[in-house]
Amino acid sequence: MVNRVPNPHDLEAIETASLDELRSLQLKRLQWSVGHAYKNVAPYRAKCDAVGIVPADLKSLDDLAKFPFTVKDDLRQSYPFGMFAVPQRDIVRIHASSGTTGKPTVVAYTRNDIETWATVVARSIRASGGEADDMIHIAYGYGLFTGGLGAHYGAEKLGATVVPMSGGQTPKQVQLILDFKPDIIMVTPSYMLNIADEFERQGLDPAESSLQVGIFGAEPWGGAMRKEIEQRCGLDAVDIYGLSEVIGPGVANECIESKDGPTIWEDHFYPEIIDPETGDCLADGEPGELVFTSLTKEALPIIRYRTRDLTRLLPGTSRTMRRMDKITGRSDDMLIIRGVNVFPTQIEEQVLAVAGLAPHYQIRVGRDGQLDVITVQVEKTLEAATATDNRSTALAGKLRKSIKDFVGVSAVIEVCEPGGVTRSEGKAVRVIDERH
Ligand code: DLL
Repeated sequence: MVNRVPNPHDLEAIETASLDELRSLQLKRLQWSVGHAYKNVAPYRAKCDAVGIVPADLKSLDDLAKFPFTVKDDLRQSYPFGMFAVPQRDIVRIHASSGTTGKPTVVAYTRNDIETWATVVARSIRASGGEADDMIHIAYGYGLFTGGLGAHYGAEKLGATVVPMSGGQTPKQVQLILDFKPDIIMVTPSYMLNIADEFERQGLDPAESSLQVGIFGAEPWGGAMRKEIEQRCGLDAVDIYGLSEVIGPGVANECIESKDGPTIWEDHFYPEIIDPETGDCLADGEPGELVFTSLTKEALPIIRYRTRDLTRLLPGTSRTMRRMDKITGRSDDMLIIRGVNVFPTQIEEQVLAVAGLAPHYQIRVGRDGQLDVITVQVEKTLEAATATDNRSTALAGKLRKSIKDFVGVSAVIEVCEPGGVTRSEGKAVRVIDERH
């Protein structure tokens, strides 16, 4: 693959500043952010008052642990605008995340927030090997979802040529990639696979396309999936992480030179890992729930937001700032099958390890009496489907055994013909709960 490691001179100074410099900037910004939230966000002030803590108690970064958490429900309860810290005339943009149940979570940005967001996304694209000369095809959805517009403003700020394709219209995605010859694509990893399928349906090899880098995120994807996409599409696959409540995409991004988990842009977003049961802070390196505090956001300062994403913090490698491990899953997505905790990414790893199975899958959870049962729906590759012998039984047997051996649960396996598993045009739906 092409060498796209960024020139150190092109990085922002803070990306390679000393740890001391970074920590002192964080403390200064944290004191501002907590003060701003306390003064202007009534629901958060009420939480602080309930435990008798005030912003002046924040004298060191460690003092943050004394402050109350913010959870998704706090945003829901103050729906739509109750957590905003500035009057509406200062807000220039609203986004919302749909959520599977109930009301959407609404987030807001001042002009400065949009500028901060564009800066961290531009930094993310640069870390992925992108530069001003590149053409970037954006296939994250535009609209209330933060993916499309978040990527868009960052790519423009970098000075790249942006193709604002949005999600969907898969044949047209392929046509524009063939005709415009973009260097970089920004899209969910599951939709990238869908686009690769469309190339093949048209008799084309996706690895022959102009794309050199894919900046993939918005959903969990493991190391096996990275390998699959890189080989099949002939590009460097880099992980971008973010969430609406914290800003959107660009909270953290992998550096192309190390591909060892997203570097957290800690000068804007302060991370902690907590024990999801007790809420206690855990040391770097220990797995738990990721918590973020925004350091510079004006419209929606967010203090100790519980993301429900499970990962661990790792020391910086390509930058001074810490990294996060690839997300194992969300605590909400964890299935408990006969006492064993299972994440969709674990099933994904096994599906990808069976030759003859395509990298698409969906898990259905049902009940057999008192017991939960999972059915993993997968599909044969084109090659396996055109083989003279019927491979379905053998493929199902292989996958059942490796899920049992490596994940520790018994699963029913359903092998479909190519195209049989529902495709996504954005975030993939990995789990369908049929228990209710
Ligand atoms: O998904 C923001 C985004 C857009 C990130 C485009 C990256 C690219 P939400 O819709 O609010 O925002 O969903 C946030 O998606 O808490 C994670 O559970 C999941 N997620 C996002 N990025 C990753 C990733 C956008 N790289 C939720 N790996 C988060 C795993 C991710 N999960």
